Amino acid sequence: MTPSAARLPSPMPTPDLLSRNRLERVRLADLTTMRIGGPADLLWLEDRRDLPELLEQPHRWLGKGANLLVGDDGVPELVVKLGAAFDTCTMGPVTDGKTVVRVGAAFDLAKLISLTVKAGLAGPEGLAGVPATVGGALRMNAGTSTTWILNHVTRVEVVMPGTTTPQWIERADLPAAYRTCGLPAGVLFLGCELALAAEDPAVLQATATRLKQAKAASQPLAQPSAGCVFKNPRPDLPAGKLIDELGLKGTRIGGAEISTIHGNFIINPGRSAFAGDVAALVRVIRTTAWKERGVELKIEVETWACPSDLHAHPKDLTP
Ligand code: EPU
Repeated sequence: MTPSAARLPSPMPTPDLLSRNRLERVRLADLTTMRIGGPADLLWLEDRRDLPELLEQPHRWLGKGANLLVGDDGVPELVVKLGAAFDTCTMGPVTDGKTVVRVGAAFDLAKLISLTVKAGLAGPEGLAGVPATVGGALRMNAGTSTTWILNHVTRVEVVMPGTTTPQWIERADLPAAYRTCGLPAGVLFLGCELALAAEDPAVLQATATRLKQAKAASQPLAQPSAGCVFKNPRPDLPAGKLIDELGLKGTRIGGAEISTIHGNFIINPGRSAFAGDVAALVRVIRTTAWKERGVELKIEVETWACPSDLHAHPKDLTP
């Protein structure tokens, strides 16, 4: 499918906004790691002055598209990506023995890790291998089995839903937990500050390399996917292990497949899967986990314009 001709969003952004920020018609499959998703109007936000106008339009925020399943018909709302003005990282000053790092939400998390490792600043290396922009990682409190991004952050800059003015929130005031920043859906992250202690760069590099190697050995990184599909229901019950024990690895519907490498990944090996194929596999997994083990698996990936039953209680689902 190719993107259809430009279809102007409604309400139409003003000429001022369009003169400062690029608008294009895209196919969201090209902007998501799952390689699934229909057309949308994409606006690159380059200028903070335009936030209030933009926030009054129906919109959705897109980061790296690494944790996202989009429906095949695309979305009618304006899809907004933060541009170069938010793709920034500055280091210093040092306060109480820790270096303050200020980073914009569009900055790539892998780049942040590379910079802090080289500078000998500890913390972000624990997220090595997590595909995300800083903003996307903050929103879902992305992490590995050992740490979350919000463990290393002192404050975040956000625009809360229903408001148009950015504000800084101290980390202590965020009710963050496993895979959630604790703020309401629709919150926009503009950036954050981290306070990082010094450490030998060689030690940090060794940790980052070890984490990436462990991921490469246990996850289907060569195939399009949206990462882990489900949250782990309990620390002692990883979703991937449960799906493995249920014998579901390798199950295929249409072009989508439950990875044979890691049970919590649904892959799109031939780049031919529809969102409906993935949704059907999600239903199979959730109903089987419920019927066989009494476990409610909850979706970790963000879903846009997908069937709402993906989030319903599994007792109400039919595979
Ligand atoms: N396991 C199986 N079979 C499988 C998959 C896993 O038996 O098919 C077992 C493993 O052998 C291991 C246990 O389950 O004993 C846990 O597996 P793993 O170490 O892969 O960790 P995980 O809990 O499945 C979590 C995060 C990942 C993150 C890894 C490594 C969640 C939902 N997933 O996976 O994050 O990369 O730890 O830090 O918390 C993501 O969020 O998208 C993601 C992939």
